[in-house]
Amino acid sequence: MSLAWSDALSLDLPLMDDTHREFVDLLAAVERAPDADLLRAWLRLIVHTETHFGQEDRWMQSTRYGVFNCHSMQHRVVLDAMREGAARGAAGALPLMRQMAAELGPWFIQHAQSMDAALALHLRSVGYDPLTGEPPRSASPGRRPTAAG
Ligand SMILES: [Fe+2]
Ligand SMILES: [Fe+2]
Repeated sequence: MSLAWSDALSLDLPLMDDTHREFVDLLAAVERAPDADLLRAWLRLIVHTETHFGQEDRWMQSTRYGVFNCHSMQHRVVLDAMREGAARGAAGALPLMRQMAAELGPWFIQHAQSMDAALALHLRSVGYDPLTGEPPRSASPGRRPTAAG
C-alpha cells in the first residue's frame, strides 16, 4: 500500500480527519482491487474525492481563506487527473490507474501535512465549525448586541 493512516496525518480537526481516513481506506481498496474491480474502486475514490475536496474548498470560501489560493487549484488538478485516469482505465489502461494510485499515496501525505494542515490551523484560529458551517466568530469582540427597545 502506498498510504496508511498514522498519527502524523491527524490534523486535530475531526471532520477533516474522518474524511482523510476514508480517503486512505478507499485508496487502499483501489490498490488491493483485482483487475476486474479496479475501475469500480477507482470511481468510488473519485466520488469520495469530489466530496472531500469540495468540502475543503467550501470551508476556504466561507472563511475567505486565500482568495487566489493554490490549495483549491491543486484539488482541481488532482481531481482532473483522476478523472482522466478513469477514462483511460475504462478504455483498458489498468496499469496507468495502478501507477496513479501508487503516486496518490505520497502526494496525499505531502498535501495533508502542508495545505490541509494550514487550512485546519486557519479554521481553528478563526473559530469556524466545519460541522455546522457556522461563520467565524466576530473579529470585533468588543461589539455588543443592540438593546431591544
Ligand atoms: Fe484533504
Ligand atoms: Fe486539501
